[in-house]
Amino acid sequence: MGRALRFSGRVAIVTGAGSGIGRACALRFAAEGARVAVVDLNEASAAETAALIGGTALAVTADVSQEEEVRAAVAATIEAYGRLDVLHSNAAVLSRSVYGRDLDLVDMDVAVWDRTMEVNLRGAMLFIKHTVPLMTAGGAIVLTSSVSGLLGDTDHAAYGSAKAALMSLTRYTATMYGSRGIRCNSVAPGLVLTDIARAVMTPGRLAEKAAERVLPDACEPEDVAALVTFLASGEARCITGQTIVIDGGTTAHRPEHAIRQANGAS
Ligand SMILES: NC(=O)c1ccc[n+]([C@@H]2O[C@H](COP(=O)([O-])OP(=O)(O)OC[C@H]3O[C@@H](n4cnc5c(N)ncnc54)[C@H](O)[C@@H]3O)[C@@H](O)[C@H]2O)c1
Repeated sequence: MGRALRFSGRVAIVTGAGSGIGRACALRFAAEGARVAVVDLNEASAAETAALIGGTALAVTADVSQEEEVRAAVAATIEAYGRLDVLHSNAAVLSRSVYGRDLDLVDMDVAVWDRTMEVNLRGAMLFIKHTVPLMTAGGAIVLTSSVSGLLGDTDHAAYGSAKAALMSLTRYTATMYGSRGIRCNSVAPGLVLTDIARAVMTPGRLAEKAAERVLPDACEPEDVAALVTFLASGEARCITGQTIVIDGGTTAHRPEHAIRQANGAS
């Protein structure tokens, strides 16, 4: 049986699937046979991803932080497809008004902290809450975390704290539902060159990121999609409760590596 059939007969929900990593994952699930519910806050971008997939895809507009909208999104998926096998909880608030203001902790606007937590963390919990009861043995959950949940930085403490909490949520979910044959893992990407990332990153910032990596190339959304679909597939049937870092080796080494790279040494 070919790899293209890993999700034949399966149904997947992907949140934040209107662009970037979520879109690439939704396209990959569909290419491998899944019927996909494309969930996003942005109605037009959800519709665009669904159109890229074609006939079988369902576009659902929902704010993942709002329980009634999550409940309705899951119900729409069941109404359309009659079953649910995979949840990829991937949405995060990356807007200028929230992520862009997640700066020094001393100046933290509590509204920025709360919105980050309610979208990035509560949103994942709500989708787990409303999808696990519908899953049978073989069901799989993948959360999109980040290397920001593993390492400190001089900004984005709310974002990084939410991403760290997702790693814990992964372990709790795996432990609670493992006996039912339901798995839960997360992926922790470093820089991923989505269209948005390409647009906002200056050449200087890209060079800094390159110096942090050990591999020459930055990750593309399709690289994350390959990992997410592997973790959601039966090929990963023995893997649960884990966070897999996908970062070109950014977190594989001591800081001296980046300093030497930046100084032009090999
Ligand atoms: N791109 C990177 O370098 C990178 C690195 C590490 C982790 N990540 C994570 O990957 C995931 C996807 O990020 P991306 O880079 O593809 O960003 P993106 O902005 O392209 O995609 C995020 C999507 O989530 C949607 N969204 C935002 N708030 C929402 C809400 N409340 N409800 C429903 N949908 C909502 C947006 O409309 C958007 O379509 C995020 O969890 C992000 O934290 C990205």
